[in-house]
Parts: sequence; C-alpha cells; structure tokens
Amino acid sequence: MAPGVAADISHINTKSKVTGYDPTPSGLAAALKGAEIVLIPAGVPRKPGMTRDDLFNTNASIVRDLAKAAAESAPDANILVISNPVNSTVPIVAEIFKAKGVYNPKRLFGVTTLDVVRASRFVSEIKNTDPKDENIVVVGGHSGVTIVPLFSQSSHPDLVGNAELLNRVQFGGDEVVKAKDGAGSATLSMAMAGARFAESLLRAAQGEKGVVEPTFVDSPLYKDQGVEFFASKVELGPSGVEKIHEVGKVTAEEQKLLDACISDLKKNIDKGVAFVAQNP
Ligand code: LMR
Repeated sequence: MAPGVAADISHINTKSKVTGYDPTPSGLAAALKGAEIVLIPAGVPRKPGMTRDDLFNTNASIVRDLAKAAAESAPDANILVISNPVNSTVPIVAEIFKAKGVYNPKRLFGVTTLDVVRASRFVSEIKNTDPKDENIVVVGGHSGVTIVPLFSQSSHPDLVGNAELLNRVQFGGDEVVKAKDGAGSATLSMAMAGARFAESLLRAAQGEKGVVEPTFVDSPLYKDQGVEFFASKVELGPSGVEKIHEVGKVTAEEQKLLDACISDLKKNIDKGVAFVAQNP
C-alpha cells in the first residue's frame, strides 16, 4: 500500500523527492528519520452514531505507538495530529514525548483547521459571501461542544445565537459521517485543511512573519482550570509555536459555550494522559 501511495504522489509536479516505506518497525523508523514535519492521520474513522471519543479505544494505541517511533527517530520534528479523538490523542503524544525526555510543547499541534474551514464555508452560505473572505475564529477543541466558534469576533456578530449554524460548526464532521453511511468520515476536506496547516508551518519555518492558524496546543490559557491543551489562534514561527493568542472578548452567550467546552475538554485530555499512564 505505502509504495503504491508513494508512486501515486510521485506523479505530482512539485520539486520533491517521494519515497515509500514498508509498514514495518524498521520501515517506520526509516520514514521518520530526520523528518521536520510528521503528520499523523492514522486510525479508524467514525461510523454513523459514533462520537469521536468512541474511537478512543482503537486509535489511542495507534497514536501512542506512532508517537514512540517519532520520539525515537524524529524527536525534533513538528508533530501534527489529525487522528481522532484529537482532544485526547494530542495529550497522548505529549505524554510519550515526556516519557522519552524529548517533549517540546512548541512543536506539538492538534489540527483544528477544518473547523475554521467549515465555519467560514457555512457562514458564507448564509451571508452570500465568498468563503475565502470569511475569517471565523474557532477555539477550544475538535469535537462537539468543545468546538466554539466566536462569531462576535467576525464581521457578522449577528450570527451569535444562530443555533442551527452553531450546530453545523460543532457537528460538521457528523454530516460527512452520515452521508458516507458507514464508509468513513471526512478525508478530502480534512486533507485540504491538513495541507493548509502544514504549508503555514513551512512558510513560518522559512521566516515568513504573521502566519497565524488556529491549532490545539499546550496552552497557558486555561491551565488554571486544569486544561493543559486548548485551540486558539497561534502565530507560527521557525521554532513552531511563536505566540498563543488570547481568546479575546466574547459575549455572555459565547462564554457559556466556552464553559461547556472547558468541562468536556478537561475530561478528554485527562483520558489521554491516564491512557499513557496505564498503557505506557
Ligand atoms: C472531521 O472533523 O471531519 C474529522 O474529525 C473526522 C470526524 O470524525 O468527524
């Protein structure tokens, strides 16, 4: 499979070298050796009726094992996690890197770009605008009520309180899961979002200033409430995380959403940490 994917990708006309590796421990180590960006989309997808947390039992050990391999072969890489449940798999990677003594909080990212991509698309459908002009701030995590769009900070503050829109943003992934009817979840929009995030990181690594993306990182914003990871706008730089933006001013209604987010997020993060403690 991997050599086939490599052959496929190698036909894309970019200035690049494409190599496929066998899915064995030595193949994985060789693939990771010296990598600067490791993007992890591995794991099983949801079926209709499942939450992302329902994937925990299967995906937690897959991500743990990939994190171990990355910590050994590419300890300085930027690790970008797409595998669900992101709210728990990112803390799993952190715990593994800590155990191996190579944890750098500035280089671990949960990819939440798709939440922002979806929010701008859904808003543009309501407002008849070009989605590329819609910049919606989405904070929190990457599942259900932990996904918190802040419409008060957009050019459409009237959308605060639009329950239907809020539900679409928070449960956008479910729309795809339902439509695929058992055959998986979003892959193409997620690939686009993952590529956008990786490209932003590369541009920032090459010295471009002012590259800001929302992402789920080791964050000081809610540590006083026991929440170690949180997604907000993050300025990227050559060392990974350059600056974590505050959530900023929110309405009373948005504050309620944030409160619900924090409570769920804490449980999701604690679950990831406990998993590594029990299954090192
Ligand atoms: C998404 O947001 O589409 C992904 O996290 C996949 C999923 O399970 O919804």
